[in-house]
Amino acid sequence: MELRMCSWPEVEEYLKRSNGIIIPIGSTEQHGPTGLIGTDAICAEEIAKGVGKETGALVTPTINVGMALHHTAFPGTISLRPTTLILYIQDFLTSLAKAGFRKFFFINGHGGNIATLKAAFSQVYEHLEALKIPESEQVKCKLANWYMCPGVVELAKKLYGEEEGSHATPSEIAVTQYFYPDAVKHFPLTKEVAKGYPIYGPKNFRHCYPDGRMGSNPALATPAHGQQFYEIAVRELTASYREFLSCS
Ligand code: NI
Repeated sequence: MELRMCSWPEVEEYLKRSNGIIIPIGSTEQHGPTGLIGTDAICAEEIAKGVGKETGALVTPTINVGMALHHTAFPGTISLRPTTLILYIQDFLTSLAKAGFRKFFFINGHGGNIATLKAAFSQVYEHLEALKIPESEQVKCKLANWYMCPGVVELAKKLYGEEEGSHATPSEIAVTQYFYPDAVKHFPLTKEVAKGYPIYGPKNFRHCYPDGRMGSNPALATPAHGQQFYEIAVRELTASYREFLSCS
């Protein structure tokens, strides 16, 4: 169930049977010469909707813009600063916690969000207790990175080996191709691809990774692969959402 498609009485009714909610979070950032700028948000959103369907859980609107400062030397990237994202998450969860939600399951599509999300969770716990929201000690946040699901990692390794890389990966591009087959881009990719450089500032990043890919060969992606990744991620995250709800 998508929150944006519910009325408030429906949400009130939902809260009588569950205090859990799924929050898709992605990024709006360059994904190499062929990857959609919205790749991370699209993957997180579709997988979250899939898990929502399996579990009957509510799914919030997708947080489309995340922490992507190191990609901002490529046009089209939009980023929040980590401090802004922390406050965004805090406001987002405070609204939901006031309504009675207690278990927040983040389905994340972007590695660059992880450090900031973890910092945000610490701040949120303290903030909600300070607000004296009833039973705020029951508030729990769980971060689930779909691309790190064991089955997803295993399939990517089998299909792409080393060419999976770590950004603009064929696995994530495949998921976008499955959902948006008409948006598949054709652009010649060089055989050589940069990899292994540490991440510093945006200009340094573009210098090290000139076409935006990090060790990946997204030309290997197909919509059929995308369907496989999607189904595995939904299955594994459905199990992990159920387990998260059952822990006290
Ligand atoms: Ni990505």
